[in-house]
Formats: sequence, structure tokens, C-alpha cells
Amino acid sequence: MGETTQFGLALDGFVVAPDRPTLAEVLGGADAYRARFTYHRDCFDWADSLISEREADDARDVVLVVEAGRPVGMMELVLDGSVLTIALLVVVESARLRGVGMRAVDRIAAAALAARSITAAPFIDALAIGVEMQNRSARAFWERIGFVEVSAVGSGVARIANLERWLAANPDEQQAGL
Ligand SMILES: CC(C)(COP(=O)(O)OP(=O)(O)OC[C@H]1O[C@@H](n2cnc3c(N)ncnc32)[C@H](O)[C@@H]1OP(=O)(O)O)[C@@H](O)C(=O)NCCC(=O)NCCS
Repeated sequence: MGETTQFGLALDGFVVAPDRPTLAEVLGGADAYRARFTYHRDCFDWADSLISEREADDARDVVLVVEAGRPVGMMELVLDGSVLTIALLVVVESARLRGVGMRAVDRIAAAALAARSITAAPFIDALAIGVEMQNRSARAFWERIGFVEVSAVGSGVARIANLERWLAANPDEQQAGL
């Protein structure tokens, strides 16, 4: 298992660079989404594909979401300037609707805010996510946790909405939802 920093952010509570069996175990617990993702990316082995993409690109990484010592989900993070994109968030089916996804995103937001006081770390303005038109439930989740649509690409069923959650200048404002 890897260190707990990525892009200069302290990602405590996550495991950076998870090993292949653990990744496969989490993905095995999210069968429906894995099938769709695999089709979408035109690849046959989701874990292999994610690991090799990560190894090929220093700007992205996969982290495991861990709660009570158990891997319950995974996230793929991509840093582009001052925007941190959550390119993927998946929670195992047995752990859904219990706040795991929301807490994971909140922890990323908190890590991004905390990194502002570290000179060498990136100054992150916003978290971003792209949601397929057909993934209505995911959209409901992102909107529920404060993401708003800022742009979109494509049309009809191929439409992908880009949603963002701004990180307030002041953590007190963030907590108050200002
Ligand atoms: C989307 C996903 C990550 C949500 O994770 P989760 O841990 O189940 O979500 P949480 O329990 O943290 O939910 C947070 C809030 O969002 C709401 N929410 C979560 N999933 C929802 C759904 N399918 N439909 C409507 N609202 C939903 C919850 O009700 C909760 O709101 P509440 O506090 O008012 O009850 C999870 O369902 C998943 O892995 N889906 C498959 C992969 C996927 O589509 N990822 C997103 C790609 S863009």
C-alpha cells in the first residue's frame, strides 16, 4: 500500500496506490457500475485498466476509501491546475446510502483546504466531476452534496454534465455552506 499523500494533499483515511487484489475486491462489490465502466472505457479488465492508466500518468491516482478498516470504495483523482477532478467514485453496493460517498468527498475537500497552508501544495479552488446523462442517481448524489452544473458536453444520452463544488476561501464559510 502506498503513502497517504497525493498531489501534496494529506489523504488520511484513504489508501493511495492500492494493490491489485484489494482494488479488484472493491470493484467486485460494485458489479453493475463495473460492467458499465468497463464498456465505457472499452477495456476488459477494470482493475488492470485503472492500474495501468495510473502508472502511465503522474497527474492521476486511484485511492481506496477505507472505513472501520475495511475498503468500501475507491476514487480516481486528477489534478488540473486549481481544479481537483474526482474522475471516479464508486462505493461497494453493500455500503451504499450510509454516507460513505459523502464523507469521502468531504474528506477530500478538507484535505484540499488544509493544503492551502502548505506552500509546496497546490491551491485548489474547486472539486469537479463529470456525470453521464443516464446516471441520474449519481447526479442526485452529487447535487445533494453541493455540486452544481457549470457546463456540459455532448447531447442527448451522450451528454455529460460537468459539476463543481467550490471550496470557500475560508473554512468557516465552507462549513456554513456559504
Ligand atoms: C453515487 C455513489 C458514489 C453514492 O455513494 P453513497 O455512499 O451511496 O452515497 P451517500 O450515502 O454518501 O449519500 C449522500 C447523499 O446522497 C443521496 N444519494 C446517494 N445515492 C443516491 C441515489 N442513488 N439517488 C438519490 N440520492 C442519492 C443520499 O440519499 C444522501 O442524501 P441524504 O443525506 O439526504 O440521505 C454510489 O451510489 C455509487 O458508487 N454508485 C455507482 C458508481 C457511480 O455512479 N459513481 C458516480 C459516477 S459520476
